[in-house]
Amino acid sequence: MIGLSGGHSQAVYKLHRSNEHAQSRINTSLFPPHSCHSRFPEEPFFTAASSALRIVLKSRFIWAIESYARMNARRCILASCQLLCTATRTNRALFLHDIIYRSNSISVAAARYSSHPTAEELPHQRPKVTLNTIRSLYKKNIPIASLTAHDFPSGIVADRAGVDLVLVGDSLAMVALGYDNTNQITMDEMLSHCRAVARGSKAPFLVGDLPFGTYEVSPEQALESSIRLIREAKMEGVKLEGGIEMAATVKKITTAGIPVLGHIGLTPQRSTSLGGFRVQARTVTGARKLLRSAQALQDAGCFAIVLEAVPAPVAKFVTQALTIPTIGIGAGNQCSGQVLVQLDMLGSFDRFTPKFVKKYADAFETNSGAIADYVRDVKQRLFPAEEHVYSMRNEDDIKKLEEIDIAVAKVSSSGL
Ligand code: KIV
Repeated sequence: MIGLSGGHSQAVYKLHRSNEHAQSRINTSLFPPHSCHSRFPEEPFFTAASSALRIVLKSRFIWAIESYARMNARRCILASCQLLCTATRTNRALFLHDIIYRSNSISVAAARYSSHPTAEELPHQRPKVTLNTIRSLYKKNIPIASLTAHDFPSGIVADRAGVDLVLVGDSLAMVALGYDNTNQITMDEMLSHCRAVARGSKAPFLVGDLPFGTYEVSPEQALESSIRLIREAKMEGVKLEGGIEMAATVKKITTAGIPVLGHIGLTPQRSTSLGGFRVQARTVTGARKLLRSAQALQDAGCFAIVLEAVPAPVAKFVTQALTIPTIGIGAGNQCSGQVLVQLDMLGSFDRFTPKFVKKYADAFETNSGAIADYVRDVKQRLFPAEEHVYSMRNEDDIKKLEEIDIAVAKVSSSGL
């Protein structure tokens, strides 16, 4: 078994099996006919990798490994080329086999000639989700998994769990900050939360919500606010609510090169004028109106559109009529992707949750139970226990401490 340990920069090359055994492993598992396709059916990357491997075994030239490394865009492989030069042919093959096996989540990346750090250079496992990734998922009809995150830890878990698109939605006003509605949140609050999420969530595509009042006045105002979310809070795209009437605004932002996620159907920032948090487009007229808005947003350059609280057949109808993805929330499962509010789907509240939320956990129960245990342990002096405390450097000092007359120490300012 060959392994990389100690991080990418310190590739440690270990051969634990005999060459004979290793050779048979190459023959049986590395190059069975069409092995790449059968093992990793979705990854054209492995076809390319397999070709590179064949060249390595045939010609023994290290440049093949380097070209493989360029394709792969993983620094660890370049760092390992030196080690490979000294390895035997069998070892080399096994080493690459191991890299390929470990890289099964990596897509082929074009060679980059930029000084900007790539996701590969960050301490992270997943490849970065870009707009191209989103488009490619859409084209392959693979649902786009989106989720909100509102702070550093929720950004980390969304990332680790494999979420494609993380939305710092203004739902945070209600679920994380306790406001009555989403319109209370300010740009400064949003910027602060977006920054926290961006510090934790590295791989997902990051979208920040434009708060109420920061984009409706004019397309110029919207562009300025969008630039703030991108530049000051490390978002990669912005979301705004509204249909056909916001098309000119969307155009202004996308023309400046900022990806925009539209949001139609139930738009919480306008819930007062919608008569509350109500399901939208329940009639054919409503569905047609929704479609006109979706098309206008698409024409204005939105990369995707959130459809909130609309009947499933309407969401399907709109999705089929568009050439960009729809992200549904309360819109059935025929959208191109789904989004939920993280705190809702984790069951963080013991109060009402909307019909469309599936609770994947009962965080309220788990967390309040854990905190009640902590309170009990503190009251009973069961916490901290032996394993949570620090020792004195010198055990004899404990005795000395005990000999000090506390009563005297208390009255004397010289104390201990
Ligand atoms: O604010 C938000 O979190 C949202 C999503 C739920 C779509 O708008």
